[in-house]
Amino acid sequence: MNPSVPSYGRVIGIGSYLPEHIMTNDDLAKIVETNDEWITERTGIKERRISDPEKDTSESMAIEAAKRAVKDAGIDPKEIGLVVVASTTPNVLFPVLSASVQAAVDADNAMCFDVNAACPGFVTAFVTAQNYLKSGAVDTALVVGAENLTNYVNFEDRSTCILFGDGAGACVLKADPKLQYDAIMRAAGKRGECLRCESYMQKGREKTDDFLKSNYINMDGQTVFKFAVTEVPKVIEDLLARTCTTADDIDYFILHQANRRIIESVAKRLKQPIDKFPMNIEKTGNTSSASIPILLDELKKEGILGQGNKKIVISSFGAGLLWGAVQTEI
Ligand code: UT7
Repeated sequence: MNPSVPSYGRVIGIGSYLPEHIMTNDDLAKIVETNDEWITERTGIKERRISDPEKDTSESMAIEAAKRAVKDAGIDPKEIGLVVVASTTPNVLFPVLSASVQAAVDADNAMCFDVNAACPGFVTAFVTAQNYLKSGAVDTALVVGAENLTNYVNFEDRSTCILFGDGAGACVLKADPKLQYDAIMRAAGKRGECLRCESYMQKGREKTDDFLKSNYINMDGQTVFKFAVTEVPKVIEDLLARTCTTADDIDYFILHQANRRIIESVAKRLKQPIDKFPMNIEKTGNTSSASIPILLDELKKEGILGQGNKKIVISSFGAGLLWGAVQTEI
């Protein structure tokens, strides 16, 4: 039943899934010319999880994370009115991943759609779901971020293969009239060339070496880095101004786990201590749209979040260029 006053949704359940196989920096140093010291210093990453081709797909990882989130929420899945899955690396174009998740968790009363917004996919899906909740169309939503990014990593390109990992995370949102929530999402498609991956399935395109390389993640790392350290603090500051809060009022800033130095730079710009910026990048690498819900799940398991009394800002950025920030309580 819809609440009498349509409201934004509180996170009432979180779950995540990480593949078992760990690839360390030393493992990578056997494949490309790199070393643990360089990767650690430049990115903060020590290891990442790599999907098992025998059993892990974006679909299977999304399903596992979603099942764990629904279990954590302790709800009847029939209450879920909306399932949104963010993925930029779906193993099937259709049926869409959200329909597979809907079937697997028995969310038989839910509508479904997928969101492809690259790394900020989870934040985009979260904000979209929140607007469905606020409109009164649904009362409970399941939002998932799932990525099998290493399928698109060129393990001959040391500037990208060190960064990415696989995994999935999910949240259940339930309308709560008392919840504080606001969000700002931005895009700059005119600046999108610096991060690109082309589809293999394009009729009329000859499978030349250049074309085959374009089917992997291609990135101008420095340009993406500069974009992130400039725009992420700006969108957070704009959001805080709009909600009449200051950075000091926020307990935790949950940022996309792309590079430790980007997170440190944002903390400095916002004049906040780094311990307000929890990180797991050391162990997961950049899992794109899965990074934020995986981190939220870890923080809930550690008892840091999940009691409903912490003010947080979530912010992500990536290909598009797309970026945004959410302010809420958890
Ligand atoms: O989800 C959003 C997606 N992407 C990002 O957030 C990425 C943002 N960018 C970054 O994180 C950083 O730009 C990188 C980690 C990708 C690269 O770090 P950087 O400090 O910008 O390095 P750079 O590209 O300026 O390269 C510096 C040097 C170069 O050598 P020379 O030309 O100075 O001799 C590179 O060839 O480091 C070299 N290099 C490496 N050396 C060892 C590049 N990759 C590696 C490597 N190991 N893996």
